[in-house]
Amino acid sequence: MRSMSSDATTVDGNRLWRELDALAQFSEAPAPAVTRVVFSDVDRRAREYVKALCREALLEIREDAVGNTFARWPGTDPVLPAVATGSHIDAIPNAGIFDGTVGVLGAIEAFRALRRSGFDPRRSLELIVFTSEEPTRFGVGCLGSRLMCSGLDPDITDNMKDRDGRALAEIRADAGFTGPLSSVALKKDRYAAFVELHIEQGPILETRGLDIGVVTAIAAPASLRVHIEGEGGHAGAVLMPDRRDAFLAAAEVALAVEAAARGTGSIDSVGTVGVCEVFPGAINSVPSQATLGVDVRDIEGARRDAALAAIRKACEEIAARRRVSIVIETINADAPCQCAPAIIEAIAAAAAARGLRAASLISRAYHDSLFMSRVAPTGMIFIPCRGGVSHRPDEYASPDAIARGVAVLADTLAALASG
Ligand code: GLV
Ligand code: MN
Ligand code: MN
Repeated sequence: MRSMSSDATTVDGNRLWRELDALAQFSEAPAPAVTRVVFSDVDRRAREYVKALCREALLEIREDAVGNTFARWPGTDPVLPAVATGSHIDAIPNAGIFDGTVGVLGAIEAFRALRRSGFDPRRSLELIVFTSEEPTRFGVGCLGSRLMCSGLDPDITDNMKDRDGRALAEIRADAGFTGPLSSVALKKDRYAAFVELHIEQGPILETRGLDIGVVTAIAAPASLRVHIEGEGGHAGAVLMPDRRDAFLAAAEVALAVEAAARGTGSIDSVGTVGVCEVFPGAINSVPSQATLGVDVRDIEGARRDAALAAIRKACEEIAARRRVSIVIETINADAPCQCAPAIIEAIAAAAAARGLRAASLISRAYHDSLFMSRVAPTGMIFIPCRGGVSHRPDEYASPDAIARGVAVLADTLAALASG
């Protein structure tokens, strides 16, 4: 048995491509779109599919109370902290095939390729399939990895409700995941390293003709829920000067989010209002309530916070002028993460050894790696995706690009698991 990987590690890109396609069939949206909301029927079936692949790859499976799934290849020195990799399989409404899944199915193929090559890890290797990286159901992204790194209060989290008013506690129990959420937190020093393979979700690699992005930092995301309360009434009868229309206030808040992001003067500041719910939602009724979902990000935490402060100030002004109440709920305001130099070097060395064109990048999207970096030295491998498109049905990464990413992942894991 070999303890280091080499060119003998050959990725079966065709098999992986078929598995990505098979996983994409577990979707609430018709192909090519994928919608896979955490703990929905399709998510539960997709989990079974992934676990079957793990069993076939002779990995030992464990699931925690929130459904994070761990698939372990025991090392020859199993008491050493393990080397972990992984990503997510949930998908936002009307998403594509590759976001998250490349890092999950790609990791299984990396393990298989290493085994085929005769590699025998000293440290255990572990795949983690994180629960609910996407915020679709409970409003908070990276639910599983946040709980792993003690980034959420377990009791408050278990009471979080989905749109149908059902609590996480009930929903996870229905999906077969019981036990206290506090048990999800990782024990200290469980992992010596964490590496996530992901599509770039941006255009830089493709534009520059690069194969591999070595991620050095992950931007700082923040999410707000803005609750606006005005006064409803008959769309014909309430005269314009008398109105306290919650939706019109929401529209101004949305423009204030845009202005705050543009107003920093940095291209790295972004602000999005991706959710607007209006009550009662009748064409002939003045909206009495509106709720916005606001996402603000920056690679610099302080500049992101300045944009958030500008949004708060604008809300105060809009509330006073329009005679509505505006309450801002901060769902999260996370710090950016710096990737670990040792992992960055291992990824860069693996790419160079294969003669691939690689460059350093920052991640503007967030990932479970943002939270894993709080408990383990962490790094990410990016591969190009067509046009930089993601969170859309036309998201695409070529089989060759994926296979190259998996090869770099396999070699990186092998190097880290041998150390
Ligand atoms: C993750 O999907 C993100 O929104 O960055
Ligand atoms: Mn995503
Ligand atoms: Mn993702």
